[in-house]
Amino acid sequence: MNIPCHIRGLGVHAPERLLTNDDLSTLVDTSDEWITSRTGIRQRHILHDGETASDIGVTAARRALTEAGLEPGDVTHVLVATCTPDKLCPSTACIIAHKLGCGQVMAFDFSAACSGFMYGLSLAQSLLSAQPDACILLVCAEALTRRVNWQDRSTCVLFGDGAGAVALTANSDNAVATLQDVLCTSSSVDNLADLITIGGGTAEEYAPGQPIGEEFFLHMQGREVFKHAVRDMAAICKDILARNNLSVEQVDLFVPHQANLRIIEAVGQRLNIRPEHVFTNVESYGNTSSASVPLALGDARAQGRIRPGDHVLMTTFGAGLTWGAALLRF
Ligand SMILES: CC(C)(COP(=O)(O)OP(=O)(O)OC[C@H]1O[C@@H](n2cnc3c(N)ncnc32)[C@H](O)[C@@H]1OP(=O)(O)O)[C@@H](O)C(=O)NCCC(=O)NCCS
Repeated sequence: MNIPCHIRGLGVHAPERLLTNDDLSTLVDTSDEWITSRTGIRQRHILHDGETASDIGVTAARRALTEAGLEPGDVTHVLVATCTPDKLCPSTACIIAHKLGCGQVMAFDFSAACSGFMYGLSLAQSLLSAQPDACILLVCAEALTRRVNWQDRSTCVLFGDGAGAVALTANSDNAVATLQDVLCTSSSVDNLADLITIGGGTAEEYAPGQPIGEEFFLHMQGREVFKHAVRDMAAICKDILARNNLSVEQVDLFVPHQANLRIIEAVGQRLNIRPEHVFTNVESYGNTSSASVPLALGDARAQGRIRPGDHVLMTTFGAGLTWGAALLRF
């Protein structure tokens, strides 16, 4: 049975504290000109001291539930996409469910890095097929600035913190959008796992009092990642359009992962999407990993870029490597 998957509410939140390119140039040997011309990023939002990924996730989640007209007690599943959880254990999903006051829910984290939103939509679709009465809260909450090496100019300029959440049900009451299709994949043939890594897991041995080594932080081979990101996002977008018999002209808005303006432009060119149909907000947030596409969707809506009936094509790419695409009908 084909159970529909409706987005009933969408909420986003980024910390208020800003870090501009000029601020960064006081920390590392970089400049506003270099960062803007290579990435399109002008500023990023970073967590306040003591603020956590779950805190910003909760704010986004509350906004999504409010728009949906749902209470925390209505939620049956809390799914959190994050590669920067508050702790290795317990899950950030359990922490968010507790802070929201959800009661007894199935709560768990999953990591698909920057592709978390696409993977989460796919998971939600499967869960709703098995359990049509479910009410799923999918939260993408990321604190990348807690894991960048602030001495490494090739990565620390790229990332920011943020959160986005959607409430999903099979029931279409006051739905904001409907998930038309979603495709997710990862690189299982070539071992590309080393292209983007964040340490701090159990592969490394730590002892109390031992200084933290470089492996603890985010590492990335930027040029290689760039090539894969362009090729894989363009290919999966073509696949999802083809299997839904949609032409690129029928896409009203393209909302790609907001990692780098040059990647976004290159994917748009490969797809032949006119620039006015491509949404970008990477200049304001940097790369917020799994939160990037929901944050972009939220901003696009707030700016009146999405109207009822619109087809929105989204795509993501991240560590793993993982990538995905989804079609929403508003
Ligand atoms: C990271 C990225 C912006 C670097 O751009 P690039 O054009 O590939 O630049 P390179 O890494 O080749 O570095 C070129 C030079 O700039 C320097 N450089 C790197 N970061 C710099 C910075 N922040 N400021 C100034 N110079 C910098 C390098 O040291 C290098 O100098 P050198 O030529 O003297 O050795 C680019 O590769 C990229 O965006 N990759 C994709 C990253 C991404 O989006 N990842 C997430 C996907 S989910």
